[in-house]
Amino acid sequence: MSQRYAEITGWGTALPPAVLTNDDMSRIVETSDEWIASRTGIKERRISHVDVSELGRVAGLRAIAAAGLEPAQIDMVINATCTPENLLPATAGLIQDKIGATGAGAMDLNANCSGFVYAHAVADSLVKTGASHRVLVLGAEKFSYILDWTDRSTCVLFGDGAGAIVVEATDEPVGLVASELGNDGSAAEHLCLPGRGTAGQVAALDPLTAGVRMNGPEIFRRAVTVMGEASQRVVDAAGWRLEDVDLLIPHQANQRILDATARRLGLDNARMFSNLHAYGNTSAATIPIALSEALEHGRVPPGANLVFVAFGGGLSWAASAVKWGSRTTAIATSDAVLPDFDGDALELLRPNIEFFGGSISS
Ligand code: UT7
Repeated sequence: MSQRYAEITGWGTALPPAVLTNDDMSRIVETSDEWIASRTGIKERRISHVDVSELGRVAGLRAIAAAGLEPAQIDMVINATCTPENLLPATAGLIQDKIGATGAGAMDLNANCSGFVYAHAVADSLVKTGASHRVLVLGAEKFSYILDWTDRSTCVLFGDGAGAIVVEATDEPVGLVASELGNDGSAAEHLCLPGRGTAGQVAALDPLTAGVRMNGPEIFRRAVTVMGEASQRVVDAAGWRLEDVDLLIPHQANQRILDATARRLGLDNARMFSNLHAYGNTSAATIPIALSEALEHGRVPPGANLVFVAFGGGLSWAASAVKWGSRTTAIATSDAVLPDFDGDALELLRPNIEFFGGSISS
């Protein structure tokens, strides 16, 4: 029997239309476009007017169309998220229903910002063992809902959005070649959200613990080291040299982290993809959104050697060496769209801002 591989055959995104600029951000907390842009590279981010499953529906249907498939041909849906729509049921199940993947299994996977790279590795294993044939892998997040809108050191960094890929069985030697999935739970306190799970007492949400807490400089220091080292290890494990890498698609958290990672690896900007300026950090969604845009912009040549690398809460990290197939364009496009919204991102956020005791200045 020929060896079974798992190829990425479809890709798509869902980016909510409401844009929150750095100038808008300065009406929420004491900050400036100059500070945010120079310290992070972020200029604006999207704020979602819909729930996570709706973002997942649109990204998923677009990825399935790009693969030339019908939703009913998908047999597993894996949704990487740390902002599930509910604690129960898994958001993946809602997406499975919304897209009409009637025969598919569904599960959420939470490895925080590394979640998509983890989920891709799980999908790859399911396909290679024959347990699944066509897996929809999503990263879908609504981080705006869990941010403390009075904490300027975190709220300026994140945004909402979703990206998706389809992973299909093939006998061509393409797909995931090497991966590393890691975590240091002893350092989890540096990026956490203590007040919204089942720990503690049953009580109303407390603004003191209901928002993401992050030790930015500590995360920064670790991310720069780990993302470079893990990328190097998967390149070695794939039997490649760094010169063989066509495009590094890193988790989009801070342009200074991306630049430092590329510098460590000796990659110039032409071999690293960044769209952080437009979306901020969308957690598990950054890599599938970036991959889709890299394909749209012709940055992924046929047969490309790609590296995905991520670092985030957990503290988790993940890296993959991925051999792209011969097709770099979509087979078909989907007419799936997000519901219309022509309102204002600041107004969408007003209840969240006021919950944390903040306000929107004029
Ligand atoms: O997905 C993975 C999760 N996240 C990350 O990877 C993020 C990693 N960390 C970072 O990107 C950076 O550490 C930050 C962007 C969060 C912070 O940048 P920094 O250069 O490490 O700044 P800092 O935390 O050392 O703060 C420097 C100053 C402080 O003021 P003082 O104490 O020096 O007076 C902060 O209060 O900048 C201040 N500051 C701000 N000022 C204006 C922090 N946030 C802001 C802000 N606007 N939004």
